[in-house]
Amino acid sequence: MRHSIVAGNWKMHKNALETEDLLNELIEKLPTDKEVEIIVAPAFTNLSSAAQHLEYTNIGVAAQNMHQAEGGAFTGEISASMLTSIGVNTVILGHSERRHYFNETNAVLADKVNTAMKHEMRVIFCIGEELKDRQTKQHFNVIFDQLTDGLFHLKKENWEQLVLAYEPVWAIGTGETATPEQVQEMHAYIRNQIARKYDESVAENISILYGGSVKAANAKEIFSQIDVDGGLIGGAALVADDFARIVEAI
Ligand code: 13P
Repeated sequence: MRHSIVAGNWKMHKNALETEDLLNELIEKLPTDKEVEIIVAPAFTNLSSAAQHLEYTNIGVAAQNMHQAEGGAFTGEISASMLTSIGVNTVILGHSERRHYFNETNAVLADKVNTAMKHEMRVIFCIGEELKDRQTKQHFNVIFDQLTDGLFHLKKENWEQLVLAYEPVWAIGTGETATPEQVQEMHAYIRNQIARKYDESVAENISILYGGSVKAANAKEIFSQIDVDGGLIGGAALVADDFARIVEAI
């Protein structure tokens, strides 16, 4: 069901001690009276302890990635059942850093999504164009392909397990944010494509988050766009005060 979500993607930051410190600060500082789902995605090594630490709080935990296979000889990889067995039932898939640095194609991501669905996990699926795509006015086409090849094979009911995050690559970690108009335009486009492929109810029920240099200072304006249901936050999620102010902005 469409609702507000603010998720922090911690990427490869925070060791075990630092994770515990940040979680303690978040528990103290995050609002508890807002109608918003709050999620943090620490590194794999700290997921189990984070899930335990946050068990009786209003903060959920997600993994940043997962392998598509059920198990096997895939040195260094993490499976869906490894995650669910430690109480982690949400996974971020398709982040642009996974797509670009680790060559995760739409086809691989479709497999990962299928595995996550099979394990009844919720997927935060990231899509986003590069700067050259926007400069050449290909951004809608890129998003269309990412949706089509990564998600449009799914059945209608699978969409209840999905959250989308639109993260233009040129706005990630650059300090450059898409304008509220650019964000709204793309979110509306995404919703429209989903309505065309499925129907209005699927399109209306999906939460679509924006990610890319969301800060306390710009969160309110971005979150006020009608097709924006929250944010996937990178750098600002690593500072408890900043993350708390972003949650307050919802
Ligand atoms: P920044 O907020 O640091 O730009 O990162 C966004 C992001 O990649 C979240 O997944």
